[in-house]
Amino acid sequence: MPTCQRANDVIVIGGGAIGLSIGWYLARAGCPVTVLERGEAGRAATWAAAGMLTPHIEAKPTERDYVRLLRFSHDLWVDFAHALEEASGVSIGYRTEGTLMVALDRDDAEQLKFRHNYMQQWGLPVEWISGYEARQREPLLSRHVVGGLFSPLDHQVDNRAMVLALREALVRAGGNLREHTEVRHILIEDNGVRGVKLDDETIATDAVVLCAGAWSRNLNGLPESARPPVRPVKGQILTLQMPPDAPLITHVVWGLEVYLVPRHNGQLIVGATVEEMGFDTQLTAGGILSLLDKAWEVLPGIYDLPLVEMTAGLRPGSRDDAPILGETSVRGLFMATGHYRKGILLAPVTALTISHLILTGETMDIIKPFNLARFR
Ligand code: GLY
Repeated sequence: MPTCQRANDVIVIGGGAIGLSIGWYLARAGCPVTVLERGEAGRAATWAAAGMLTPHIEAKPTERDYVRLLRFSHDLWVDFAHALEEASGVSIGYRTEGTLMVALDRDDAEQLKFRHNYMQQWGLPVEWISGYEARQREPLLSRHVVGGLFSPLDHQVDNRAMVLALREALVRAGGNLREHTEVRHILIEDNGVRGVKLDDETIATDAVVLCAGAWSRNLNGLPESARPPVRPVKGQILTLQMPPDAPLITHVVWGLEVYLVPRHNGQLIVGATVEEMGFDTQLTAGGILSLLDKAWEVLPGIYDLPLVEMTAGLRPGSRDDAPILGETSVRGLFMATGHYRKGILLAPVTALTISHLILTGETMDIIKPFNLARFR
């Protein structure tokens, strides 16, 4: 990575997984950087995520280009995890057992076979397995599981541990993290960034990275041409507690509309609803009921587990569900937002490409299809 010659700080707006990762990459390249977070870092969408690194098994037939970006980031993840743990001294719970997606009846099985078909054509490392083989991998799966997909390379990470690690790595590398600091206005003159206005202070800068997740389009001072079309997509998610020495499952397991993610400490994350409710983060009986019901159908043994947490987060969804990355029509304004359901998976490629862009002025090919201009 080239060294940085900047006089003033790059300002990163938003201290979620994306903003912290970019901040860390810039700081470790010797670049002065300040991450501004309106609440506590990593406590919005990142906190309500599940940490699945599953580009293969989640590949959708209409998203072939996007799957390339997701796999690119997936390939960076092992080194990213090692570097982050080394830089921070914090373990981030990277797990490599793989992911199962199971069918509970013939309709589900037909759908998964359809998916398996294009996955094979695209060369994705995903296998079809029978119900018997699924239960050999996870003996407590429902007897109704008739078959499914197994993706050995789809891993997981503890997204909350990742936040703690990123905060530490950022600060140890010399970056600033300012929490409870809301940007009121971005200052733009002659089509170039001049600074950001806080409650009682103005910070001069000629480089701003907008990573404010679901709030990205609401920043005052953005011209229409640089306002990202991002909306909040609510997800309710809950945590059950398994006995850590006798977990019900060790793989990430998907039903068709639910996922279950086991952590080393015995927590079992069950997610998530997908709701278009604006900025509402209220938990609802129906949301929780439907998650528990779908999870119980897949893994009946959850019935007796303590329910230890319920929460809701707001995913930043763009118009095509893919992220918005790179330069904008305003000089010095960079976007890293709209990561929707893939923020944790996409953190390494986002940090790599956005820091590279700021340090060198070059946009790497892999993010070219994901610029803001595609929505014009
Ligand atoms: N990536 C998991 C979710 O959005 O629910």
